[in-house]
This record gives sequence, structure tokens and C-alpha cells, in this order.
Amino acid sequence: ITGDAAKGERVFRKCMACHAVGEDAKHKVGPILNGVLGRQAGTIEDFAYSDAMVEAGAEGLTWTPETLAEFLAKPRDYVKGTKMAFAGLRRENELTDVVAYLAQYE
Ligand code: HEM
Repeated sequence: ITGDAAKGERVFRKCMACHAVGEDAKHKVGPILNGVLGRQAGTIEDFAYSDAMVEAGAEGLTWTPETLAEFLAKPRDYVKGTKMAFAGLRRENELTDVVAYLAQYE
């Protein structure tokens, strides 16, 4: 993890309409992101993913700092058919910083 988690907390504001992290986190439009690093994509039991996300996980997509950064740069290119309606983060440091932020939540 090369990013700055404190800066990543500010980047995460762009995600908060749809995602929560932390002890009292609940699913919103998007799933809880606690423990996302190391997890197979599309596998939280009580969240209704798109077929595309479930298939990506079944085909071997696991969230690592690298795959997460690639996904967040262009979500709809990286997982074709995803229902995550987010254009993506443009700047490299936003990507590494938000990954470092998420890595704090197991
Ligand atoms: C899925 C992260 C922004 C809605 C996901 C997943 C990750 C993620 C890691 C996959 C979760 C899994 O496999 O369990 C982020 C981050 C964001 C962001 C870090 C900000 C940089 C948003 C926004 C929205 C959104 C703004 C709503 C407009 C969703 C939805 C899914 C999802 C609906 C499920 C996708 C599917 O099943 O195809 N997000 N997200 N996300 N996110 Fe986001």
C-alpha cells in the first residue's frame, strides 16, 4: 500500500453516497466496503450485485490494491455490465490514497 490513508478519507467522500465503511456501516446503493482487500469480487452474501460483478468474482477477480485501483479508474470498463454508476477517479494519487484508506477497515 503506497497511498496516504488520511488523504484517501477525503477522496472517499466521492463514494459515500453509495458506500459505507466502519463499525456501524450498512449497505447503501453499493455494498459495505469493510474487508474489501483480499475479498473475491461480488461475494457479500446479503448484497444484490449485478450478474457482471458476480461473474467477475467467479472468474477469479479478487480485490487487491492493483485490481481495486484499476477498477476505480474506469469501473464500467473494468467490469463490463457493473451497476456501479461512477465514472471513475482520474488521478493516480486519488486511487492509491483511497485504496490506503479502505485498507484500514478489515
Ligand atoms: C461496487 C468501491 C463509488 C455504487 C463496488 C465495489 C467496490 C466499490 C470495491 C465492489 C464490491 C464487492 O465486490 O464487494 C467504490 C469506491 C468508490 C465507489 C472506492 C469511490 C471512489 C460508488 C458510487 C456508487 C457506487 C458513487 C453509486 C453511484 C456501487 C454499486 C456496486 C459497487 C451499486 C455494486 C456493483 C455491481 O454489483 O455491479 N464499489 N465505489 N460506488 N458500487 Fe462502488
